[in-house]
Amino acid sequence: MGLLDEIMENDSSVFKNQDIFNINYLPEIIQCRDKELKSILINIKPLLTNNKVLNTMIMGNSSTGKTTVIRHALLEIENYTDIKTCYINCNIQDTIRKCYFQIFKVLFELDPRNNVATEILQEQIMEKLEQEPLILVFDDLNHLSMNDSNKLINEFFRANEFYHTNMAIIIIVNNILFKYSLEKNAQSILQCNEILFKDYTEEEMFSILKARCDKGFKQGVITDEQIRKISFMAANHSSLRWGLRILNTLGLKIESENRDKITDKDIQKYAL
Ligand SMILES: Nc1ncnc2c1ncn2[C@@H]1O[C@H](COP(=O)(O)OP(=O)(O)OP(=O)(O)O)[C@@H](O)[C@H]1O
Ligand SMILES: [Mg+2]
Repeated sequence: MGLLDEIMENDSSVFKNQDIFNINYLPEIIQCRDKELKSILINIKPLLTNNKVLNTMIMGNSSTGKTTVIRHALLEIENYTDIKTCYINCNIQDTIRKCYFQIFKVLFELDPRNNVATEILQEQIMEKLEQEPLILVFDDLNHLSMNDSNKLINEFFRANEFYHTNMAIIIIVNNILFKYSLEKNAQSILQCNEILFKDYTEEEMFSILKARCDKGFKQGVITDEQIRKISFMAANHSSLRWGLRILNTLGLKIESENRDKITDKDIQKYAL
């Protein structure tokens, strides 16, 4: 038997489900963010009744759950309404043209022609938006160039002056001062309801990491006290993501050494 077969056949994994520690995993239950999720849904609600919506700006440091909460909100909307949603990750769609491509794909359910001029694309999108509502999310907007951010805000937040669009725009930034880095014109156009995602406290981190460990690790692999230690360190790093990554690393490490319990020494060694 090859080594890979042996590894694949070995069901003595310390993980009940390793996917739980994957950074892109969307937890079924989002803890500590009920208020923020509710505020987002309240802002979107008028769209469901054809009324004027309030656009939203979500701000907060890295790893405070902004993407997780918005993905959850979009899922709820998709599950309970027919309204289309378009999620744009500006790390990937990192130019205004790429953003328009993505919106076109969602609205028309096909790829636009590669050589189509951005202005034409924009016009087709706006005309389509006069016929159907859309929830449009620009996540990590601060990853666009300053020029593109200014342009995008101008083009989307003023769209209803030129077209009878009905969309809810949600922008997400991890820099609380983002608004002030825009040019004056864009700053004045950017009228939205601001939702601040505060850093998680150590206790909140414990509660989130504990829930992940309960779902992700087999019983007995890690103790509550050890999760507390990691939460303390994660709070010092101001990063829940760091805590999740360390838990995954620790699990993989002990598994590779055929052990079934994380020790305090492991934490000292790997959680630095
Ligand atoms: N309230 C929560 N409940 C459960 N898991 C959470 C919660 N908040 C964040 N997480 C987890 O923490 C990690 C980071 O969260 P997320 O990606 O949503 O942060 P973010 O605020 O979007 O960060 P960034 O600004 O770097 O994009 C994710 O793996 C996510 O599953
Ligand atoms: Mg994010």
